Amino acid sequence: MAPASKTPPPRDRVVVRAPGKINLSLKVGDIDARGYHSLATVFQAVDLYETVTATRASTLSLELTSEVPGELPLDGSNLALRAAELLREECGVEFGAALHIHKQVPIAGGMGGGSADAAATLVALDRLWGTGLGSERLRALGAKLGADVPFAMLGHTALGRGNGTDLTTVLTHGEWTWLLAIPGGHLSTPAVFRKFDEISLATGRALPGQPDRDERQLQALSGANLELLADTLHNDLQVAAFALHPGLEPVVEAAERLGAPAALVSGSGPTIAVLVEDEAQARSISAGLMRAGLVENCLVARGSAPGASVLEES
Ligand code: C5P
Repeated sequence: MAPASKTPPPRDRVVVRAPGKINLSLKVGDIDARGYHSLATVFQAVDLYETVTATRASTLSLELTSEVPGELPLDGSNLALRAAELLREECGVEFGAALHIHKQVPIAGGMGGGSADAAATLVALDRLWGTGLGSERLRALGAKLGADVPFAMLGHTALGRGNGTDLTTVLTHGEWTWLLAIPGGHLSTPAVFRKFDEISLATGRALPGQPDRDERQLQALSGANLELLADTLHNDLQVAAFALHPGLEPVVEAAERLGAPAALVSGSGPTIAVLVEDEAQARSISAGLMRAGLVENCLVARGSAPGASVLEES
């Protein structure tokens, strides 16, 4: 593509936030030539946000502050820095930026926090640098960084197909309350997919080329039907996550015993997403899980939430 103009960028400072997500259903099919599994997944964005402040500077740099425990690399493997490099390459520009990320999404928890960092960074730098790619091209660029990045840009609730980047917004009514139970420890997404393949092979389970979407779950979302949503929460990766992290299954069982309509592993884990009736129930289940020593931390979040949005610019 033609290099973008090298005229000075029109903004000095841009603040963008992008949401974390949970997968309300995650059905996994066969692997494609790039090593990605085909998915039929329903993403829901929740109101825990990664906020990226991008300020004009001569070089690229990154700082983090966080409301959640854990560490992230600050080197070139960081997804926000990779997003910045990719935008520079795509547009043929060499601008710099001082990036600051404030984190609310559990780190390496299966909630797409790193993807939200990349999404917010692409949107912020596109404005800071005046590269003007716009949402559709930014989403395509985001897909090169990770399968969950385009959804962090789109937000709300959406069906993801292909490797998760082929998105269609899902009609929803009402708001859903989630208790996010964090059991500690990390799970690597590729390792969970590998374990899933191993289990499928060992059990002789044939994987579909493209899994079907769950029509009952779409009905639950459009009809604001909590009971039906609880009945349709599903994650094909859960059994693999349970096998790799023995602390997870007891959390799901305890949350349901404590009265939650349903609970499941979020994405590739280890965060457990517990569907609750309201914040009071979230608080009582959270207290029960903490008392039993099953989790390190619990957060309450609501879905759905908007995708990457500009909060301030000057
Ligand atoms: O795209 P992302 O970086 O989140 O994916 C990390 C890894 O998870 C991929 O390299 C792949 O091993 C696995 N994955 C997959 N199928 C998907 C998404 C991710 O196998 N649809």
